[in-house]
Order: sequence, then structure tokens, then C-alpha cells
Amino acid sequence: MAWMPDLIPLAGASAAARVRLDRLWSRGTAFLGCEVAIMGGAMSWVSERNLVSAISNAGGFGVIACGSMSPEQLDAEIAGTRTLTRAPFGVNLITMHPQLMELIATCHRHQVSHIVLAGGLPPGAAVRAIKDGGAKLIGFAPALVMARRLVKTGVDALIIEGSEAGGHIGPVSLTVLAQEILPHIQDVPVFVAGGLGRGEAILSYLEMGAAGAQLGTRFATAAESVAHPNFKKAFFAANARDARPSIQLDDHFPVIPVRGLVNAGTRAFLLHQADTIARFNAGQLSKDEAQLSIERFWAGALRRAVIEGDVENGSVMAGQSVGMVEREQPMAEIIAELVAQSVAALVQRAESDAIGRLGHRFAMPA
Ligand SMILES: Cc1cc2nc3c(=O)[nH]c(=O)nc-3n(C[C@H](O)[C@H](O)[C@H](O)COP(=O)(O)O)c2cc1C
Repeated sequence: MAWMPDLIPLAGASAAARVRLDRLWSRGTAFLGCEVAIMGGAMSWVSERNLVSAISNAGGFGVIACGSMSPEQLDAEIAGTRTLTRAPFGVNLITMHPQLMELIATCHRHQVSHIVLAGGLPPGAAVRAIKDGGAKLIGFAPALVMARRLVKTGVDALIIEGSEAGGHIGPVSLTVLAQEILPHIQDVPVFVAGGLGRGEAILSYLEMGAAGAQLGTRFATAAESVAHPNFKKAFFAANARDARPSIQLDDHFPVIPVRGLVNAGTRAFLLHQADTIARFNAGQLSKDEAQLSIERFWAGALRRAVIEGDVENGSVMAGQSVGMVEREQPMAEIIAELVAQSVAALVQRAESDAIGRLGHRFAMPA
């Protein structure tokens, strides 16, 4: 049995693969202060205390979606989350929020360790306030040039989110963003997001240099998620191709691209744009009025879907990984599954390597 020495190490292959995984995302876990470098992407109305604490209690890193909350509401949400977990979690703030500075102060009062700024280049005053208050700042980089600029302005970590993601999206897929950005940004940890539904995919980005991953769609329907049963059912029934970006009819009237499930609401949005543009062309609306009317179409629509369960007329934001979301599962099970898939992929690679070495040995001339 001359080949045994090659195969003996495979007995502990899973344990060795887990060690390797922990090494691969060690920069991410050290930065976030958690066991598994998987962040729960902030989802307005969904990422509240229950989901956030469930992610952090499962070893990941939950992030509260502040969205349009007032400082008082955010204060209550952070306090509520603290009652459900002792593990670290973060807060996601939208840069356009009119009370951004008060929201930052609220985070500092609760000694929130990590603040994610979403929705455009973070204003200098917000960056300074976050850092002066001792929190770590995470920004979104939609391109390499932005990633470099954000690092210069002092962000402590970056998220690169591909167009496969649910919610507001950029035009470039994670496949391309990762190749464009990961080899060139070493100063800060970079987390990847968009379209991630399985551990094998997360692993492949870690091997490319990512520090960890951020998932939204895969977590939205967890047992701990307060999303309406209709919202969850819509996810379970959907395929990747049902999660599409919003369509803009006219270059003069920009529409911020949002990926979500196609429904009566998305179809009505097209008719609304066409009607509004026709009224503008007929001189019945000014350009500003027409633009505002298009922008306001979706006001309150995410809440309508997530909380009220109106998945026909509301905005059912979802990423392309929705096709991999099949049933309600406790968060701990989802995270364990993602870790197990990454570990299994590493074991498989170790086995292929061992078999390759064996083949090489037998192929050698005696
Ligand atoms: C229902 C829903 C709501 C979202 N709301 C927000 C938000 O309020 N702020 C934000 O920065 N990202 C938001 N996102 C994006 C997520 O934080 C995350 O980056 C994204 O879901 C990751 O891609 P994935 O959906 O393919 O996993 C949302 C995503 C979904 C699915």
C-alpha cells in the first residue's frame, strides 16, 4: 500500500480545510471581530434587530439598515439589537439622509464598532465624524478609481457589490469588479457582494484576495427575518431570471437601477414613465415635475412588500441568487451551510491535489 501516506492526511481533511478557510478570511474576521467573515447586507425594513442579532449570534456580522429611520428610531433599534446579542454588529447609513450627522452621533453613543456608508461618495465631514468617534468605516466601491479614492479618504474597509445584487445596483457584475479591484487594493480589507448564494462562490473570491463576503438575498427569508410570509414565498418561488433591474424608458428621465422581482408594480412603473414623459412632451408637466413624479413612484414600495406583504404592487427587491433560496431556514443553519460548502470545496481540491500527486508518481519512470 505504497500510496497510503498520500491519503492518510485526508482523514482529517475537513478539519484541515476549515483551518484553511479560517486562514483565508482571517483578515475579514479580525476586522469585523466575528468568527465567520460573512456580513449580512443591510436591507431596509428587513435588517432590523431580529435578523441582525441572528446573523451575529450565528458567527457572522449583522448590519442594521437605518434607511430612512430618524435618530430616535435608530437609537431604539441599536438598543433592541443589543438586548438580543452580545456579538458585534454594524449600522448602515445612507449618505443622503438629511440627519446623517445625528445618526452618526447616535451610533457613537452606543459605541457601534462599524458603520457602513452607502449611497454615494461619503461626505468628508461624515468620514471625519465616524473616525473621530472611534468607529470603523466601511464604504462601497463601484470601480477601482473610487476604491483608491475611498482608501485615501480613510475608509477602513470596502465592499464591492456586483450588479447581481438585490436592491440599488451599479452596472458591473461582481465577476468583473473582483478582477478589477481585488488585485490592486491591499491597504484595506475588501468584502465582495452580489449574487452569492453558496459557499463555493464565497471561497473562490477569498482565493482571489477578498477578506470576506456580504449577502442579502440569501438572508432575507431566514426564519428570524420579520419579512411578511408573502415576501418570503415570492423569494422561494422565484428564479434568477425573475430578479431584474428596473427599466429606464428615456435618457432625459433617469431611473436609479434597482434589482427586484418582476411584478405588477414593475409593469405599472413602465406605464407610469411612459405616461409622465408623454405629459412632459405635451407641456403639461415641467421637467422637474416629471422627474419627481417618476422618482416618487416607488416611495414606500419596499415597506409595502416586506411588511404589508403586497408583493404584486410593492417593490420586492431581490438579487439573482434568489433562485438558490428555496425555503425558510434558521440563520445559524444558513451560515453553517455556507461554511460547509466552502469547506467541502476545499476538501475536494485537496483530494484532487493528492490524486494528481499520485498520478504524477506513477507516471514517473522507475
Ligand atoms: C430587500 C433588499 C433591501 C436592500 N436594502 C439595502 C439598503 O437599505 N441599503 C444598502 O446599502 N443595501 C441594501 N440592499 C443590498 C444589500 O445590503 C446587499 O449588499 C445585497 O443584497 C447583496 O447582494 P445579494 O442580494 O446578491 O446577496 C438591499 C438588498 C435587498 C435584497
